[in-house]
Amino acid sequence: MLKKIDIQEMSLNDLEKIKDILISDFDDFWNYNILKEELESPNSKYIIAKTNDSEIIGFTGIKVLVDNADIMNIVVKKSWRNQGVGNLLLNNLISICKDLNLLSLSLEVNEDNLPAIHLYEKVGFKQVGLRKNYYQDKNGIVMSYKIMT
Ligand SMILES: CC(C)(COP(=O)(O)OP(=O)(O)OC[C@H]1O[C@@H](n2cnc3c(N)ncnc32)[C@H](O)[C@@H]1OP(=O)(O)O)[C@@H](O)C(=O)NCCC(=O)NCCS
Repeated sequence: MLKKIDIQEMSLNDLEKIKDILISDFDDFWNYNILKEELESPNSKYIIAKTNDSEIIGFTGIKVLVDNADIMNIVVKKSWRNQGVGNLLLNNLISICKDLNLLSLSLEVNEDNLPAIHLYEKVGFKQVGLRKNYYQDKNGIVMSYKIMT
């Protein structure tokens, strides 16, 4: 049976629920302590994707600076990838940014991260810069999304 997926604001309690499987089932690029700080920051906003049986299957978050938001991360649970969850999270994040009257969204992605680059381009992000060797020996692609008012 297809599961219904809801998008909700992420709480510290949600982070506690995925704490022990954060690295194994999601990704290892951000740890619990950094995420906790992010959730406590007044300039940050995080959302989760949650199934109707309460499984947290992805999250993403922004940090707002004046009229731009930086996407700090977007992660989908490994067993749920390539099923449109990333797309759902990103589109919800864009709606939140519109509601906050922001003008643009920015992010940086490893040039080797093809699924992420594909997803960002699919929702309308454009490459605006390159950071040489930003990820050790790999370049970072800077992407931006203009919010239409
Ligand atoms: C990036 C990430 C969030 C995408 O989440 P997701 O739920 O799998 O995303 P979606 O299913 O909505 O979209 C993924 C797209 O990438 C495509 N894709 C998958 N592997 C690919 C590859 N090797 N090359 C190109 N495209 C690829 C999928 O086909 C899909 O596109 P489609 O909808 O046109 O078919 C997920 O892969 C993830 O959590 N990665 C680890 C964390 C990470 O790298 N985050 C980004 C940091 S900048």
